[in-house]
Amino acid sequence: MKPLILFFVFLLTVFQSAGQDGFNYDESKVPQFKLTDPLVFPGGRKVRSVKSWERRRKPQIFNLFEDQMFGKIPAGLKITHFRVLEESTETPYKNAKRKQVEMILEKEGKELRILMLIYLPVNVPSAPVFLGYNFHGNHSVTTDVEVKISESWCNNNPSLGIINNQLTEQSRGVESGRWPIQMILDAGYGVATIFYGDVDPDRDDFTDGVHPFAYRENQSRPLPNEWGSIAAWAWGLSQAMNYLEKDPGVDPSRVILIGHSRLGKTALWAGAIDSRFAMIISNDSGCGGAALSRRKFGETVKRINTSFPHWYCTNFKAYNDNEENLPFDQHELIALLAPRPVYIASAQEDLWADPRGEYLSGFYATPVYHLFGKNGLESPVPPSVNQPVMNQIGYHIRTGKHDITEYDWTQYIQFADRHLLKK
Ligand code: GCU
Repeated sequence: MKPLILFFVFLLTVFQSAGQDGFNYDESKVPQFKLTDPLVFPGGRKVRSVKSWERRRKPQIFNLFEDQMFGKIPAGLKITHFRVLEESTETPYKNAKRKQVEMILEKEGKELRILMLIYLPVNVPSAPVFLGYNFHGNHSVTTDVEVKISESWCNNNPSLGIINNQLTEQSRGVESGRWPIQMILDAGYGVATIFYGDVDPDRDDFTDGVHPFAYRENQSRPLPNEWGSIAAWAWGLSQAMNYLEKDPGVDPSRVILIGHSRLGKTALWAGAIDSRFAMIISNDSGCGGAALSRRKFGETVKRINTSFPHWYCTNFKAYNDNEENLPFDQHELIALLAPRPVYIASAQEDLWADPRGEYLSGFYATPVYHLFGKNGLESPVPPSVNQPVMNQIGYHIRTGKHDITEYDWTQYIQFADRHLLKK
């Protein structure tokens, strides 16, 4: 390539990974802020026991997140039936069994169909499983020709074979680099994945996906404190768990949630609403996920509510340019997961997601882990790149950009081995 072209490619890479103009990427410009304390009640009394955390303080914090950020998930809405569409050991992987399960929600003549793809290691009788959404259809995570193509709406991306908002054969395998399935199986884990658009298409439209199944008469969008899309995706993960609990090939006490980016935000909230998940992994989840909002580093609350008005509930918009008045910050989302193992990962070039703010959430959630006698992130200073910490709260910042890579998965498997296999 000519030097000039190379220079432009370089500039493009810098802009893409570092984030967008008009946002702060300068640590010295991070405002002074005071965080809410998860272990202090609003009146000033301290939480001193697991019992008072579990019974009183944790529900207070949970209710605030639900009411002010993610929105309430309608009670009682459930997948009505699960259908195993096919299962086979003929897959591109060694020692593997594939299952494709349809999760159907039927209500008043309407139907929502969600497809789950599962690979299990045949040599493990009841396997721990990583469960997470994919961005571009189940068939995008693998070259396996038997994997069905979802018909749900997807953002156009002709280079990935997504045309007229439909996934196509051309998108088969395009995300396989993010899903090292053979490596996961070889480590003795299964993997289950769902296209997130099956549950709710990722656009500001509340007439599609699961939301309409819970509307009262004449309702056409959620109320200000009712579920946005992230909460809907979190609901879908709980529904998947309802299936996994009954699959004899799966160990329901060791289902691990994993998600990248917006799907990492989803994994965190899904872990908070459903204690059946044994471990939670947030990969580069950033703003509205693991990153502290009050730092206003990279993406901000206003920016996320503007670009993605459907992700959080309407009440969350009150905190645009008003992070100081949030009744919580994201360290308390991590605290809601205690004492379960949680892994927060960042990437060095992913400044948009505020790596330091992601680390600090784990650090400030640590006192709640201490209450349970567990170590979290003990140092206020993040570790160097590619130096994972694997206490009950795990963390790494790897070299490279916003993505989920084999390096990330290698750490997650090791973290899961350490915290779940010792049982
Ligand atoms: C955008 C968005 C982030 C999000 C990311 C993703 O960059 O601003 O909040 O995490 O998309 O999901 O890939």
